[in-house]
Amino acid sequence: MPLRLTPLEYLLSRLNLLPTPLFDTPLAVGIAKMLVTACELGLFDVLSERGLPLETLAEKLECQPQGLQLLLQLLVSAGYLRYHHGNYHNTRMATRWLTKESPMNIAPYVIHSPDIVAIWDHVTEVVHTNKQAMRMPYEEDASTPEAQQLLARHYAGLASLATALGGEIVHRVRVPEQAQQLLDVGGSHAAYSVLFCRKYPYLHATILDIEPGIVAGERTAKQMKLEERMSFVCSDIVKDDFPTLFSQPFDVALYFHIAHLLPPEMNVTILEKVAKTLRPGGVLAFVDQITDQTYGSRLASLMVQFMALTMTTVGGTCYSFPIVKRWLQQVGMEQIHSHRLLTPGATLITAIKKE
Ligand SMILES: C[S@@+](CC[C@H](N)C(=O)[O-])C[C@H]1O[C@@H](n2cnc3c(N)ncnc32)[C@H](O)[C@@H]1O
Repeated sequence: MPLRLTPLEYLLSRLNLLPTPLFDTPLAVGIAKMLVTACELGLFDVLSERGLPLETLAEKLECQPQGLQLLLQLLVSAGYLRYHHGNYHNTRMATRWLTKESPMNIAPYVIHSPDIVAIWDHVTEVVHTNKQAMRMPYEEDASTPEAQQLLARHYAGLASLATALGGEIVHRVRVPEQAQQLLDVGGSHAAYSVLFCRKYPYLHATILDIEPGIVAGERTAKQMKLEERMSFVCSDIVKDDFPTLFSQPFDVALYFHIAHLLPPEMNVTILEKVAKTLRPGGVLAFVDQITDQTYGSRLASLMVQFMALTMTTVGGTCYSFPIVKRWLQQVGMEQIHSHRLLTPGATLITAIKKE
């Protein structure tokens, strides 16, 4: 964890003798900035094979040694690096979560995180008004180079999270072995579709998204050599009557991290369209930050609360399980269950289309 206290510091903190707000800011914010900088430099990848001394690292990263040392020392204190016999090494945590060779690499999400932090610049306004303060990146003009870069970072970040953490979702969704057709609604980067296609050998995934999302997804399909098992359909899931696009019913549909973008009535409208595309007995898997499914976990509560704040700022919100359950019943789904996941703050809800 970034803020690692010694036992004495922990005790003093519990006794309220340490100025705790100083750790939340500027310390936590500073560590976040150092981490993003290290990921952007590619520091953890340079160290992924073996530890290196300062001078070699500085040369490889094209940095001034004393300047780089300031960053390295902070990363040692924060638990991302280790300094041993004159060499800097990745810690186990950095190796697992921040290096390209690891299947759990979430460095692209870390690099995307300043875009999320920028949304929180509007927090005062939101607190005063409880109203949307800016538009979603998807609604912005995607023709400028800045907007394209932002969306590319966004989809790359989401793809890395899906690849690293999506395994347990795929494991928990019960899909018939012979299932052939999967619909990934707002599936953009296609990383969840990749995981399902790998597990179910007969599955073909159809990913529905806006143009920039599809560009990201096609890249993933190519990288994973799954182009033949994936189709991409450019469609506005809010406005388009997308069931008319498909002649065959789907066995499975994914509705992952879409609900929090939209008001309740729009979710019902889209879920109705999703349910229409499913065959009777077909499976709908729904993933989101669900407000009442935090199971007493502080990490889960923080994740869900931050998502609620972020989404309110861009015009969405987070919902409770009873609300989602009602929507799903309304559109003809049954056997609606909420599943606790290891990933803090994410909840999987599964439902079956009535026969
Ligand atoms: C928060 S992301 C979730 C992506 C993916 N499902 C996941 O769980 O990582 C929301 C997705 O919805 C897509 N999206 C947003 N508005 C859309 C619209 N009106 N029509 C189609 N896709 C849309 C975005 O491009 C993006 O891929």
